Amino acid sequence: VKQYLDLADLPQDLIERLLSRAKALQHKPLNRSLEGKIVALVFMNPSLRTLASMQAGVMQLGGQAFVIQPGAGSWKLETRTGAVMDGDAVEHVREAIPVLARYADALGVRNFAAGEKLADDLADATIKLMASLCDKPFINLESALSHPCQALADWKTLEDLAVPRQGGKFVLSWAYHPKPLAYAVPATALNMAVKRGMQVTVLRPEGYSLPEPVMARARELARASGATLAETSDRQAALDGAHVLYAKSWAAPSAYGRPADEVKLRAPHKDWCVAESWFAPAARDAKFMHCLPVRRNVKVADEVLDGPRSVVVQEAENRLHAQKSVLMELLAPEASW
Ligand code: CP
Repeated sequence: VKQYLDLADLPQDLIERLLSRAKALQHKPLNRSLEGKIVALVFMNPSLRTLASMQAGVMQLGGQAFVIQPGAGSWKLETRTGAVMDGDAVEHVREAIPVLARYADALGVRNFAAGEKLADDLADATIKLMASLCDKPFINLESALSHPCQALADWKTLEDLAVPRQGGKFVLSWAYHPKPLAYAVPATALNMAVKRGMQVTVLRPEGYSLPEPVMARARELARASGATLAETSDRQAALDGAHVLYAKSWAAPSAYGRPADEVKLRAPHKDWCVAESWFAPAARDAKFMHCLPVRRNVKVADEVLDGPRSVVVQEAENRLHAQKSVLMELLAPEASW
């Protein structure tokens, strides 16, 4: 069974093929490679881009998609192994996923971090369980620790912008957000940039280092690709010569699962709202990336989002091309493009 769970696990030749096909599909968007195929999309959490671009992508390839939003028109699903199901959830994914796999030719599933136990979320066990229950191709549409469709789209965006692989300077910056957020997007963006062979810096306030297992994985990927990986709280040093600033908020590992404590830790860092002043003078030409959705004037100022350095809409467009490439890889690998 073919699965797309984490970009960082893919061999380089497969990534190159996915990128080439995504680029070709951007210029020739319609084909019939998914004719007669049905894709089930399960969204345990909200979405704008992933929900819309997966449906649009399947349709542009001649297939059909249906969407299940557990708890909103279909049964609320339990994911915990061994749960005593006497609460809201009336069906377990252990039944729901194999059932949906009988109706569809592929499944895409979004299931965010529970945000309770750090070790559990870092293990990304729930999406792996769901993938193991599915005997059809399976696409991770964002799990506790990985957002591979975003990563492929972001890699393509860097190619589109001709940001160098070796020597390209990529800054993953923490940004303020009123709530502690999961590690899926920052971990995925970090792994994407190191796998691409870039000079990567994680910029964050003290106390907001990414969890050690996340950094360890990135270091391992960097060793294989020739990337460099550094970490600092010095904004000016991090941004010196940067080609890209990729902003994202994430929780402090020391208070993971304790949002009331975490809010106190982040309160002093409201100035971590990306502004034009961050880029002057040493990163004047740097691009601004963010996966969206983004809170304006909390995480990033209007002046950045509305200015020429922002490529957030281009990233979102690339979700469509990237996911179509993944769908063809899984469901129609022999189809021409
Ligand atoms: N970037 C992203 O996955 O957007 P959505 O949450 O809107 O799908």
